[in-house]
Amino acid sequence: MDELKVAPDLERIDEIIARYQNQKWPLIPVLQEIQEEFNYIPLEAVKPIASSLGLFPVQVQGVITFYAQLYTTPRGKNIVRVCRGTACHVRGGKTILKLVKQHLGLEEGETTPDLEYTLETVACIGVCALAPNMVISGQTYGHLNPKKVGQLFGDKKSGE
Ligand code: FES
Repeated sequence: MDELKVAPDLERIDEIIARYQNQKWPLIPVLQEIQEEFNYIPLEAVKPIASSLGLFPVQVQGVITFYAQLYTTPRGKNIVRVCRGTACHVRGGKTILKLVKQHLGLEEGETTPDLEYTLETVACIGVCALAPNMVISGQTYGHLNPKKVGQLFGDKKSGE
């Protein structure tokens, strides 16, 4: 997959940072808001955040690296999380993951070039009785089979 190149809106980054300058513990909230805005934290945001909060860029980078929920590469509008937990695995989760990969043309952790989809796997979604499962944009889909996967991504790709 080609590397994604998207220029972030630097003015928007500055606006977000400015709103947090006088807060007591602003680093995590500002990082979270920037991620909400862009779906990831652009590298270009690190220096302005650091200078506005009186930190070194390496300190900001260290916090971003520490938290698994903070992302430094662009992510898709739709996050697809396929469960690879035991209950899902024994009910065909491996095949479901393979099919999702084929439909999206992605491997785990990758994002489509149009930034529509990011594919991830998770240890357990928490609805094992419905296995095999996946979550697309926060909505859980259970009792998956190859036909359902085809329908889900056929619908998604046609914008329905
Ligand atoms: S193992 Fe898949 S939802 Fe629990």
